[in-house]
Amino acid sequence: SKNTIIAPSVLAADFANLQRDIEMINASQADWFHIDIMDGVFVPNISFGMPVLEAIAKHATKTIDVHLMIVDPDRYIKTFADLGANILTVHYEACNHLHRTLQAIKAEGMLAGVAINPHTSIDLLEDVINDIDLVCIMSVNPGFGGQSFIENTYNKVTKLKDLIIQKGANTIIEIDGGVTNKNARALVEAGADVLVAGSFVFKAENPTATIEDLKQITTI
Ligand code: DX5
Ligand code: ZN
Repeated sequence: SKNTIIAPSVLAADFANLQRDIEMINASQADWFHIDIMDGVFVPNISFGMPVLEAIAKHATKTIDVHLMIVDPDRYIKTFADLGANILTVHYEACNHLHRTLQAIKAEGMLAGVAINPHTSIDLLEDVINDIDLVCIMSVNPGFGGQSFIENTYNKVTKLKDLIIQKGANTIIEIDGGVTNKNARALVEAGADVLVAGSFVFKAENPTATIEDLKQITTI
């Protein structure tokens, strides 16, 4: 059976009660913390930066999955390693020398991820897939939580899964944006390994039970 990784996105947490929300995730069936870093340049929004991540990392007891929505991410690879990131994901669209960036992330002891925007084709990953630990398929345009899921994502998951098999890569597939209990199972059936969920978890009446629910419906 397949155990899907559930990664609540802290972007949707209550920042005035951050420790409470982190401890909720620690005690839940969630697998990872998904941390969205936005610079107001690559995406039209600014989330939070290093001091907040440092505070999160102090309390988090699970894998820290950092999603950088910033231009020129090479400048901060070492900083994020030092802050405790276990996985560092950069955007395909933000890297001129993606292959080099991936090696630099791994040299700092992290897993290397590549996120692709909804308009970016899976085909563009063909020559670099064997160097990528995780591909994050954006199922919304990055920048904001609470947007609705783009249906074309299913085609991209299928296509990426085929590419991974064809190339004999070990890459895992993460889906980010608009994930709910309505699309979670179909995404896993198409080949997803990790589901990020922000609003669906944190805006729920019972976030712990919502995580448990996502975990259950994605065990196939
Ligand atoms: C969007 C972020 C997502 C976001 C997901 O730019 O990368 O991780 O927090 O939030 P929901 O699940 O609300 O779409
Ligand atoms: Zn994200």
